[in-house]
Amino acid sequence: MAKFTIVKLPGDGIGAVVLNEAIRVLDAAGFEADYIHGDIGWEYWCKEGNPLPQRTIDLIERYKLALFGAVTSKPNDEAKAELSPHLQGKGLTYSSPIVGLRQHFNLDICVRPCKSYKGNPLNFVRRGKGNTIDEPLVDVVIFRQNTEGLYSGVEWTNPPAQVYQALMTHPKFVENFGNVPVEELSISTRIFTRKATVRILMAAFEHARKFGYKSVTLCEKPNVIRETSGLMWKLAKEIQKSSFPEIKLLNTNIDAQMMWLTKNPEDYNVIVAGNMFGDIASDAFAGLIGGLGFACSAQFSSEGIAVFEPTHGSAPKYAGYEVSIVNPIAMIESACMMLDYIGEKKISSNIRKAISAVISEGKVRTYDMMKMSGRPEVIQDGAASTTRMTDAIISKLDQIK
Ligand code: NAI
Ligand code: MG
Repeated sequence: MAKFTIVKLPGDGIGAVVLNEAIRVLDAAGFEADYIHGDIGWEYWCKEGNPLPQRTIDLIERYKLALFGAVTSKPNDEAKAELSPHLQGKGLTYSSPIVGLRQHFNLDICVRPCKSYKGNPLNFVRRGKGNTIDEPLVDVVIFRQNTEGLYSGVEWTNPPAQVYQALMTHPKFVENFGNVPVEELSISTRIFTRKATVRILMAAFEHARKFGYKSVTLCEKPNVIRETSGLMWKLAKEIQKSSFPEIKLLNTNIDAQMMWLTKNPEDYNVIVAGNMFGDIASDAFAGLIGGLGFACSAQFSSEGIAVFEPTHGSAPKYAGYEVSIVNPIAMIESACMMLDYIGEKKISSNIRKAISAVISEGKVRTYDMMKMSGRPEVIQDGAASTTRMTDAIISKLDQIK
């Protein structure tokens, strides 16, 4: 038996394609593990009425380490229509299995690094002095609270009487919404708890210390969202002062951050935010380093469960291609995050060096790196297939090892 057992969750569409490629790279890099397949995704919704079967939850519970591709989610009416006939009309409702995984295991810490590779034609550039072109290298790690805030699902349209009455005790509600008929009200709550907020802040500061980053930036909006963002800012100041005095604490508002990131992205190191602003900030920074083909992520619970996945989805329109064209790097990078987490740093460093060598050499590029729109013909037009990109990385690895 190998030292590590990893639950592999291919999911749907290109999720399954890129996960296989990442495992090919892990094998070639000399990483020894047993992989156990876990059922997840659309197929299991259609066949069993549950896209996240209990047996998959049990596997993750047991092995605690999972590599996840991506799943397809569809609106409720489409989901119902695609259920097997024997499951129709039973009142089943679809919910995204990746959101389900986050909630079930309380994967509250989401880490999304955005680091540019030299020579990536998709890197952000700006105009420098004297009309020169500047290519600032981005090295940012976003810590996103993954379970609370605006994505926690506590929401109503036409809220029940108790909720409405509670809201009517707030003077601002009475002033701004007191005249609105209750059935015309839609409310999504933004709940932050002290415990989860401290956990994400601590994770961000600890990461900064461990990897020698000089600053942690809280990216919220405490001047307007005074209670939730305000709590996070207050706790960030306390934690910095008591435990991380050598690390600078900065504070940007999410809106201003979206502007600053195209002016001076090199000024940011570790960014920490609540669920929605963390989601926005991580997509925005990913855009500076090449977009979805490069954006990787990890999610951790306090109980020692870790799930690693690319930020992208299942890209169904590319799923049926005879020769896959999507970029496997985001998934391979997510696998590298897993290696770092389990202490296999030499192997992850070799893989990153191999990716870097392929990118800077510039001979093998997937369609997204060539700014093509995705079609099967991109291969004839010179873009590398998914497999060819992986092969190029493996061949560099063989030289590095
Ligand atoms: P998507 O990320 O699947 O695709 C958006 C576009 O990004 C694609 O059309 C493609 O142009 C590009 N892209 C994505 N991955 C790429 C890669 N590896 N290489 C090159 N280009 C890539 O997002 P979309 O289209 O909004 O959603 C498709 C499905 O995926 C939906 O059912 C959605 O619910 C699901 N989804 C699942 C996620 C997950 O499993 N964590 C996350 C996001 C979406
Ligand atoms: Mg997102």
